[in-house]
Amino acid sequence: MSDPAAQKGGAPHVPVLLRPLLAAVAPVTGVWIDGTLGAGGYARGLLDAGADKVIGIDRDPLAHEMARNWGAEYGDRLSLWQGNFAQMDKAAEAVEAVDGVVLDLGVSSMQLDRAERGFSFMKDGPLDMRMGQEGPTAADLVNTVEEAELANILFIYGEERQSRRIARAIVQDRPFDRTLPLAELIERVLGRTKPGQAHAATRSFQALRIAVNGEYDALWQGLMAAERVLKPGGRLAVVTFHSVEDRMVKRFFQLHGDKKTHVNRYGDQTQAATDPFEVLTRKAVGPDAEELAENPRSRSAKLRVGRRTEIPARAVEAAELSMPVMKQTPKTPRRR
Ligand SMILES: C[S@@+](CC[C@H](N)C(=O)[O-])C[C@H]1O[C@@H](n2cnc3c(N)ncnc32)[C@H](O)[C@@H]1O
Repeated sequence: MSDPAAQKGGAPHVPVLLRPLLAAVAPVTGVWIDGTLGAGGYARGLLDAGADKVIGIDRDPLAHEMARNWGAEYGDRLSLWQGNFAQMDKAAEAVEAVDGVVLDLGVSSMQLDRAERGFSFMKDGPLDMRMGQEGPTAADLVNTVEEAELANILFIYGEERQSRRIARAIVQDRPFDRTLPLAELIERVLGRTKPGQAHAATRSFQALRIAVNGEYDALWQGLMAAERVLKPGGRLAVVTFHSVEDRMVKRFFQLHGDKKTHVNRYGDQTQAATDPFEVLTRKAVGPDAEELAENPRSRSAKLRVGRRTEIPARAVEAAELSMPVMKQTPKTPRRR
């Protein structure tokens, strides 16, 4: 990435859509919450762009460990809060007002690259996949849930059309403790991955990761939390990497984004806000050609931005966001 802010401290994760995000939320002032700190690319971008303070949230202790190194140069302008961004109200208690919230969903390159974290179907490691490194692992899930439930997880969270065949094969061959044997089994079921195609295990691993980390629940709750903590005029920017997440964010802004605020030809607002957000990106923003060339991982990224109005925050139902919900609520898997 050519953005020098992204390079400071030698961040191994290349931030995606950082330039359009900073442009869409400019001018950056006051207190910002980065709900997905990762390697700190967004937090540094916000601090360098003029934020007085950034509260960096991440579930993963690794992100906090890294921030203790790169964050030193920012002193107390950077504060860290380990936990789920769905609970960002707690992190926001330390400040008077929040001027902006950014969310960059999914996993970081560091998480994927470290075989011992168990996110990758390319590298052998324990079948773990926990961002927060606590609670049941992917192995706990795969080895204990019933076949029909496993098929549902693969279908609903991974949009895997061969979910039943894969679930049947997993249940026949389990237990699985490592990533590669599971990835190889999925390849045997679906047929070898052809050159240029996504790996056969891509959708199943995505589904397990989403289930293990409760990612859709976190997004649903996180959007509502952002609405509660932001001050009027504050900005919410969300970057998603797949269609289900983008649909949830789009629906959220459709339901909570102002449709009735009009600007007359003199630039005056003619009607008061009636919804908690004014949508600043009518269409999702994707990477430009330069970013695509520099970082192919940005291909599926989409950015949506809203500005908080004076209208009080209100709850939204998961179903209103078209959030995929398991037909059968998974029982908390037993640890083996
Ligand atoms: C795509 S990376 C963010 C990268 C970051 N923007 C950067 O430039 O380095 C996503 C990060 O968010 C964290 N994360 C994902 N879901 C989370 C949640 N619900 N609460 C807190 N952290 C979360 C992951 O652990 C990961 O470190």
